[in-house]
Amino acid sequence: MNMQKWQQDSEYMSHVSDLLEREEVQKLDDYIQHVYSTRLEHSISVSYYSFCIARKYGMDARATARAGLLHDLFYHDWRVTKFAEGTHAYMHPRIACANAEKLTVLSELEKDIIIKHMWLATIALPKYKESFVVTFVDKYCACEEVIVPLKQKTAKFFRSRWESIKYSFNA
Ligand SMILES: [Fe+2]
Ligand SMILES: [Fe+2]
Repeated sequence: MNMQKWQQDSEYMSHVSDLLEREEVQKLDDYIQHVYSTRLEHSISVSYYSFCIARKYGMDARATARAGLLHDLFYHDWRVTKFAEGTHAYMHPRIACANAEKLTVLSELEKDIIIKHMWLATIALPKYKESFVVTFVDKYCACEEVIVPLKQKTAKFFRSRWESIKYSFNA
């Protein structure tokens, strides 16, 4: 994702800058989320893409941006830490929601966005159209964060293989 784009979008920044300044949000940069992305990078991508869709289609863009940014506000490695109360898909939205409520007052819509963002891996149906936007953008971003760098790495590998084959023929 073009990091400049969201930073230069003054409307987006007016909705989320108070949250981005918080240490609790910046700390997400210490956690790998999807192989090549940190949890902060992932959260900003989900927040900004969802915000753009919500703004375009006349939805609650502010709530979408804020809840999108906070949807993965948790501080454990989901590959390692397991919970007796439920799966990662069930537990981490609830942990994120509880953590988000320590930072800001959440509306019912924002809570629904955060709690239901794992829909399809969990069964509780999102209640609002903004929640559907975030859950689908979250899945899109997760795929993009893995596939795009993987394609670049694979292309780089084959380019270097090809160069060494060419070199061996020319030697
Ligand atoms: Fe999540
Ligand atoms: Fe996510």
